[in-house]
Amino acid sequence: MKIEVTINGQKTVLEVAADELLADTLRAAGFASIRRGCDTTNCGLCTVWIDGKPTLSCATLSARMDGHDITTIEGVAGEAEAFARLLVAEGGEQCGFCSPGFIMTVLAMKRELADPTDEAITHYLTGNLCRCTGYMGQLRAVKKFLEVRS
Ligand code: FES
Ligand code: FES
Repeated sequence: MKIEVTINGQKTVLEVAADELLADTLRAAGFASIRRGCDTTNCGLCTVWIDGKPTLSCATLSARMDGHDITTIEGVAGEAEAFARLLVAEGGEQCGFCSPGFIMTVLAMKRELADPTDEAITHYLTGNLCRCTGYMGQLRAVKKFLEVRS
């Protein structure tokens, strides 16, 4: 079936199978940032924004995306790089495999939460797993990026 979607501001028509998952559709369309780490909706690596909300693309049927607006990290590259630099400076990135999904969640959090507590930040990030770090470096980077006061 054909679906019409907007990806990173560009309207496009895609041919998708009825059981196709958005993570696969986006990768096939050339968005190489989309990664899969679990297929059990636990790791958050496949996170994109659908109509501005962070969403797991491994658990989203492409057929349901007709008429919707999708953002991948390629569409917010400048902002993503600014946060990635903080992440590296704080030692919050090692292999980098989790980074695209994690960064999409952090950029969404910046739009949604004002001056959050540590608890609110970690709660927002519950669905994003990292196998390398202990999360403290990530938390420092997120707080700097969000310009949290405390
Ligand atoms: S691959 Fe989607 S949550 Fe892990
Ligand atoms: S930096 Fe390796 S999984 Fe997160």
